[in-house]
Amino acid sequence: MKTEINGETGIMGIIGGNIKKSLSPFLHNTLLKHYSLNDCYFSFQISAVQLPAAIEGLKTLNIKGVNVTVPFKEKAMEFIDKVEESALKIGAINTIVHKDKLLYGYNTDFIGFKRSLLEKKEIEIKGKSAVVMGAGGAARAIIYVLCQEGIKEISIFNRTLDKAGKIEKEYHAFFPDCLIRIFPMGDRCLQDKINRADFLINTTSLGFYPNIDLNPLPENILLNQHLIAYDLIYFPAKTSFLRQAEKAGAKIINGGEMLVYQAVESFYLWTRIRPDKEIIRELIHKLHEKNNNSQKTE
Ligand code: ATR
Repeated sequence: MKTEINGETGIMGIIGGNIKKSLSPFLHNTLLKHYSLNDCYFSFQISAVQLPAAIEGLKTLNIKGVNVTVPFKEKAMEFIDKVEESALKIGAINTIVHKDKLLYGYNTDFIGFKRSLLEKKEIEIKGKSAVVMGAGGAARAIIYVLCQEGIKEISIFNRTLDKAGKIEKEYHAFFPDCLIRIFPMGDRCLQDKINRADFLINTTSLGFYPNIDLNPLPENILLNQHLIAYDLIYFPAKTSFLRQAEKAGAKIINGGEMLVYQAVESFYLWTRIRPDKEIIRELIHKLHEKNNNSQKTE
């Protein structure tokens, strides 16, 4: 973003149902400023009934592109002219590019998640097993990466079992070597699955601001120090789920780095600029700082 908005300033943004605490505007406006682009990134909070009109409005108002977030990542695909291949397989988009009067849908969540794990050299996915809480759009991106990287077994626990069942069926066709099992949230076998898992991943919105005391795990569940507990939520930085895992001695990761990596990929799709490692490091650092500060003022 340049210091002054003028008649030629391009518009980007994020559409979602609960985005008052989204850090995407901060990340993108920092990048736009860093690269001196005459664009600005806004947030558009909408309801489900407004989704079709909001997406159609991108064309009407000549908006360059938007991120799409909870709970519209799957539904938004219906209103897009062309969906990129990985996003189509995942069944969810989080980025829309408006170009030559057409809307293109992409999924950069999976790239963000993959990069956040692969940058940590000590983490091995091949041959391991995971418990995934949730079966929404974000879960689809995460499960896609785990399967791509050769995970052996994934147990999905979700409130709506049908949604997990759809993932199981669709992904079996792409990744026949990965054993995907599905269970209703709160199923008794959760403890056993966690005991045998290497990764425990929360993709649900339970624990996200403002419902910071919610946790996808029942209180009596026991975690262990061999687990890698990953919560896609980045605000608060340490959810009740991550605190529980930390207490058990597990390695914990929050959604901050994934957020930054998916943002730089969306930024690239809109601007064709690949942010360098230096600015990415700075963004991750600023994000942690900002997160800590806003938690103190909550
Ligand atoms: P995202 O794109 O972030 O995945 P989503 O598609 O709305 O968002 O998915 C949210 C996930 O959180 C889903 O797994 C949802 O469970 P359902 O499939 O049953 O809707 C889960 N979730 C949200 N609120 C929940 C709650 N109160 N209890 C249990 N699960 C919840």
